[in-house]
Amino acid sequence: MQKTFAGEDPAITILTSQPGAPVPAAITMPIRKARTASRRPVRAASRPIRKAKAAPTGVPDGFYRDLVWNLRNGVIAVTRDGRIAVMNEVAYRILGLTPSPDDIGLPFTQVLKDRPDVWRIVSGAFDLSHLPNRAELRLKSTGKVIGYTLSQVRDQAGAITGATLFFKDLTRVEQLEERERLRDRLAALGEMAAAIAHEVKNPLAGIEVMAGILKRQHAKSEDAQSILRDIIKEAKMANAIVLEVLDFVRPIRLQVERISLSDVVRDAIATAESHVPRGGVDVRVSLSEALPPIQGDPHQLRQLFTNLLTNAFEAMGGKGRVGISAQQLATEEEPAAGGEMHAVPMIQVEVADSGPGVPPDVMDRIFSPFFTTKPQGSGLGLAIVRKIVDAHDGRIDVGARAEGGTRFRVTLPVSGSHELFR
Ligand SMILES: Nc1ncnc2c1ncn2[C@@H]1O[C@H](COP(=O)(O)OP(=O)(O)OP(=O)(O)O)[C@@H](O)[C@H]1O
Ligand SMILES: [Mg+2]
Repeated sequence: MQKTFAGEDPAITILTSQPGAPVPAAITMPIRKARTASRRPVRAASRPIRKAKAAPTGVPDGFYRDLVWNLRNGVIAVTRDGRIAVMNEVAYRILGLTPSPDDIGLPFTQVLKDRPDVWRIVSGAFDLSHLPNRAELRLKSTGKVIGYTLSQVRDQAGAITGATLFFKDLTRVEQLEERERLRDRLAALGEMAAAIAHEVKNPLAGIEVMAGILKRQHAKSEDAQSILRDIIKEAKMANAIVLEVLDFVRPIRLQVERISLSDVVRDAIATAESHVPRGGVDVRVSLSEALPPIQGDPHQLRQLFTNLLTNAFEAMGGKGRVGISAQQLATEEEPAAGGEMHAVPMIQVEVADSGPGVPPDVMDRIFSPFFTTKPQGSGLGLAIVRKIVDAHDGRIDVGARAEGGTRFRVTLPVSGSHELFR
């Protein structure tokens, strides 16, 4: 139905719904004002009226509502008195809130009460002289990074009638940038490690051989035997570290196959148990047989879960619980070549332990190569985990469990492009 404000300006029309036309549950679009073609030219009015645009002839009723609902950005619009006018599905999804049709018309402070960082941005729309454009924010509640633009809604007379927040989930983009940075760091580290390994390996081999000769020559001296045994053991250990470092900095060449994650995880549990005595730790695996097979390198993925489980066993010191579960996630949007987004089905595997947890002050360093809090640790376990996840185009998140302990979440695409990890 088109309603004409003949009394004010016949060129102004309001597009409203047809009487009785169904309004979608979770969205109510603000009434959209637009101008129709007028036979009479628009006169200069006492209040500044913006120039008429082309008439929206042929635009079906409900088009603007569907447009906002289907945008791939999150949109939240509020009225001048602070009530939600529009909140689309993507907005709910990015903010981790459950869509509810009842939210329309409620104060935004109430709807966004669990996302205080977002309502703080929205409330700035009516106070700030410069509104943020393409700004970024890490949401405290979910850890997601959003890129957002805040705009005011103005009526024909230029008065502010509301505000709109447009935002996009940049978490994945950030992770990809971080992955690039890691690759650069590894490339530099790789050159250095190769040079050091070259210098260190030969003297180490020499020490081991000469200690062996001395051991044979002093076969009767208990003291000499004990010292030389230690020298050989230490030289072997140093050599193992050099080989581990070289292995870490070498690019991964994935041997991709169709594999069952359940099999990989079960193998990893057995391998981790052979590294660290599990003691009384209760391991609970709940992996559904209905999970689809994924395209991945079974050897590398086994290594990934072995490292996570080894850490969990080490953290718990022989008692507690480790839970391993997996679920298929709703399709995610991934940036593809050319910046386009494409949909990818993902599987998320969670490894959670009831250990002491990672101290918050070291949380952002645990994936760095050589970071360790263990006397005998090399600090490469999680760096290797991250490298393997990256090579599979996946991602890994770590967090503290509310009930105590650590939770690692590995998200892998069911089938990925799996380029060479360069
Ligand atoms: N499940 C966990 N619980 C508590 N802290 C953990 C856990 N996993 C990792 N960490 C912390 O992260 C650090 C780095 O882990 P990472 O596996 O990279 O190295 P590491 O276990 O110390 O040595 P490496 O794995 O090379 O033998 C650990 O030293 C520990 O402080
Ligand atoms: Mg480790």
